[in-house]
Amino acid sequence: MNAATFDSVIKIVYLVSTALFIFSLRWMSDPKTARRGVIAGVAAMAAAFAGTIIKPSILGENLHFVALAVILGFIVGIPLSRVPLTAVPQRTALSHAFGGLAAGLVGTAKFYHWYLDAPAELTHFRMFAIIAEIILGYLTFTGSLMAAGKLQEVRFIPQRPVTYRGQNEMNLTLFSVAVTLGVLLVIMPWAGWALYAFPVIIGLSLLFGVLLTIPIGGADMPTVIALLNSYAGLSAVFMGFVLDNPLLVTAGALDGSSGLILAIIMCKAMNRSFANVLFGAFGQVQQTASSGEHKVYKPETIEGAAQILEQAGSVVIIPGYGMAVAQAQHKVRELYEQLRKRGATVKFAVHPVAGRMPGHMNVLLAEAEIPYEDLVGMEDINPDMPQCDVALVIGANDVVNPAARTEKASPIYGMPIIDADKARTVFAIKRSKNPGFAGIDNELYFAPQTFMLFGDAKNVVGELGKQLAGGALGH
Ligand code: TAP
Repeated sequence: MNAATFDSVIKIVYLVSTALFIFSLRWMSDPKTARRGVIAGVAAMAAAFAGTIIKPSILGENLHFVALAVILGFIVGIPLSRVPLTAVPQRTALSHAFGGLAAGLVGTAKFYHWYLDAPAELTHFRMFAIIAEIILGYLTFTGSLMAAGKLQEVRFIPQRPVTYRGQNEMNLTLFSVAVTLGVLLVIMPWAGWALYAFPVIIGLSLLFGVLLTIPIGGADMPTVIALLNSYAGLSAVFMGFVLDNPLLVTAGALDGSSGLILAIIMCKAMNRSFANVLFGAFGQVQQTASSGEHKVYKPETIEGAAQILEQAGSVVIIPGYGMAVAQAQHKVRELYEQLRKRGATVKFAVHPVAGRMPGHMNVLLAEAEIPYEDLVGMEDINPDMPQCDVALVIGANDVVNPAARTEKASPIYGMPIIDADKARTVFAIKRSKNPGFAGIDNELYFAPQTFMLFGDAKNVVGELGKQLAGGALGH
């Protein structure tokens, strides 16, 4: 095969890979096609890898480096793929950290290579791309490590926001110094001092990633992770320019824009602005807001709840983070089947930010093979809530807190919620009287129609299912 034909083959492989990446994102946006989306994404990545590795510059003397990188990737990647679903947000953050580090290292290597061995290659545009790549890459690296540490509750990384006076000004100054040095390098890429300025920019970017993340509480980490995802994508776009690889530019752009869109969706679902997430130190509210007066809960027994559920014509199940922690989804499915056997209409009301990551509840319910058509979004279920006989809240708290509608001073004021409080009867399953993620009391639990089923979600739902099954046998 001559060089021109070979080049065309690589271009075609890249084109197929780009198309697969786009289809992958499209398919992943619907639970019915999500599996296909994952396969398309893997195929796109494999094609991208194949198209790159067959290049003569790699296939020849550098193959052993690629093989080493692939082996290292497998060693890190396989254990990462085995984490429990509740740890997926921090696992995702770690992936972004590696992506950011890779981009940063490629930019660094390219700079030193061109600066020392081929100065004519170091054009102003390439220097600009390298600077953008390393700033975004390295800040994504440390920022994502911090985010993963906060979510994993690593001992030496505080979960709560760490704030001090003049913090935003200091961060802005650091960032401005890095950008100014970068601009000077773009203007004079071959200057003698470039060799010293370059590592300073790396150091500032690494530091900036840490400082950007510490004032943000664990509660906002998923949104920050989506934002860091978009930085990592953008850094890959610049890496594409540095390496003259159009596939990296398009894949990075897809990655960057989807991360940004996801962050916007999350902010909207929480009725928060980007500025509030990044600079609002949200988790600080937790210490003050939860220490309110003592109100009285009405506990209910499993038998009592099962009797009411037996009579219910329509049941809306509202899952939240607690269902994920307890891994109660399979028991929930059994209960769902029991209720359906008794002729009840059963729907699942899925809030967009229930749990700790986008689509958290959808993934769990799909794993338990609950039909997609019984999963209903917030906007669609709310008009039906006043006609609902029983709302069964399983480990959800903030997403059903009526304070979001009524209390202007509440940190979740304005966040759209599922109107569980409008149902005729509410059963709420949780282990204790502790608040949810936002750290605030929930009036729903004290409402006249609400009864508490204290306990681990898996046990309580399992017992409810058994009661109903036992009842069915007795009929
Ligand atoms: P939360 O408000 O966090 O409430 C979860 C509840 O589950 C807690 O009240 C907890 O009470 C209970 N729980 C924990 N473990 C349990 C277990 N084993 N069995 C039974 N109950 C258990 O959850 P939510 O309603 O799903 O709201 C999500 C929150 O996360 C929102 O504030 C949202 O803004 C935030 N957030 C979500 C996302 C995404 S993308 N999902 C992103 C950023 C922020 P006990 O401790 O008493 O059991």
